Amino acid sequence: MKVLEITGGKELSGTIRISGAKNSSVALIPAAILADDTVTICNVPEITDTDALSDILTYLGAEVRRASESIVINPVTIENKEIKEEQAKKLRASYYFMGALLGKYKHVEMYFPGGCSIGQRPINLHLKGFEALGATVTNDGNKYIVDADELNGANIYLDIASVGATINIMLAAVKAKGKTTIDNAAKEPEIVNIATFLNNMGAKISGAGTSEIVIDGVDSLKGCFHEVIPDRIEAGTYTIIGALMGNYLKIDNIIPEHLESLTSKLTEMGVSLDIGPDYLIVNSEKNYKPVNVKTLGYPGFPTDLQQPFSVLLTKCNGESSIVETIWENRFMHVPYLNKMGAKIEVEGMKAKISGPTPLKCCEVEATDLRAGAALVAAALTAEGTTTITNINHILRGYENIVEKLTDVGAKIELKEI
Ligand code: EPU
Repeated sequence: MKVLEITGGKELSGTIRISGAKNSSVALIPAAILADDTVTICNVPEITDTDALSDILTYLGAEVRRASESIVINPVTIENKEIKEEQAKKLRASYYFMGALLGKYKHVEMYFPGGCSIGQRPINLHLKGFEALGATVTNDGNKYIVDADELNGANIYLDIASVGATINIMLAAVKAKGKTTIDNAAKEPEIVNIATFLNNMGAKISGAGTSEIVIDGVDSLKGCFHEVIPDRIEAGTYTIIGALMGNYLKIDNIIPEHLESLTSKLTEMGVSLDIGPDYLIVNSEKNYKPVNVKTLGYPGFPTDLQQPFSVLLTKCNGESSIVETIWENRFMHVPYLNKMGAKIEVEGMKAKISGPTPLKCCEVEATDLRAGAALVAAALTAEGTTTITNINHILRGYENIVEKLTDVGAKIELKEI
């Protein structure tokens, strides 16, 4: 079993370079299927989620080559065969193969995807979108069979601005006949990144990044070169760590606009930030003010940062609150933070954090990816050596986390026990 051992209390200085966005890369890799020629995607993080998707592509018959931080994919030899259940279950993003294979072959058979247990995570909106385009969806136990004679553009309204459904519908509609409109589309920067990738291949997508996306179907898509945007959640996590332990800690290779909901909250709390064109410098201060946070779709405060952010709130003078509106199980890290000395009360989807409370080491478990990131942040501030178990969740989303933190002065070791 792999564990992380972290001895807290070390000041962190120097530069952390942010990797390409996980939540873009995990859609771009399946989207490569749609091209009729080789695509090169650069700035892809080497994390287990991108490895798992590359493995699925290889299994389907694509030529996949990793060259440093780039992935070169030749999808020409792909066969539209059923992805094995254990492959689909490895991660959430395997569901992007549904939209991509449907878009290319008009038929796909896929098992229900896996991923962090942070809520129910239905895929009804993805399926509703496929049906609106003319596909029939049948459910065979845990497997979906989606089939169409022809895909035709349609007006699709999403009840919830779902990131996954917006991307999956774009993938399915990009080669459909005629015009598709997605209303109440999600506006996350990752969606803009996927739309740009498809447009680089020759697609005609406009409005990505707004709540109305329009897709004019095209007959074919060519190969292209594309770059993944920096990971705003990784950047946010290290910025929060900097607010806890930073002494002139530089978070480099970021798009500051993507982090505005976080940086404005940090400023409100009294964190010292110097924001440049593609970096920020963060210093830990004393006497942070308590704040209230509500998670929302972009450009609101991201749910993926509320867990690490809750650790920072334990340092505030007074009572802060977090209202989680996206995932019903995103407070699973709280019992572990309380075990470390925090005073957090959870009621339904709301947490009340009373501070300041010093944290002390103990053995804790990463129950999901961002819970794991929260525990890393907590361990870096805690007295003594904290052991974090079940760290596969963390390795799914944070590239070279041990090296990046070690380089700025943290005492963190990955051990096999
Ligand atoms: N929802 C439905 N039906 C659907 C789809 C979604 O009811 O068909 C609901 C969900 O249950 C949830 C809400 O809509 O309550 C939003 O879900 P969304 O579809 O936007 O989430 P997702 O696409 O499954 C992505 C990220 C998550 C991130 C959310 C929200 C990927 C692979 N995952 O998930 O990232 O929390 O958007 O921003 O892109 C993470 O990185 O740790 C992570 C969980």
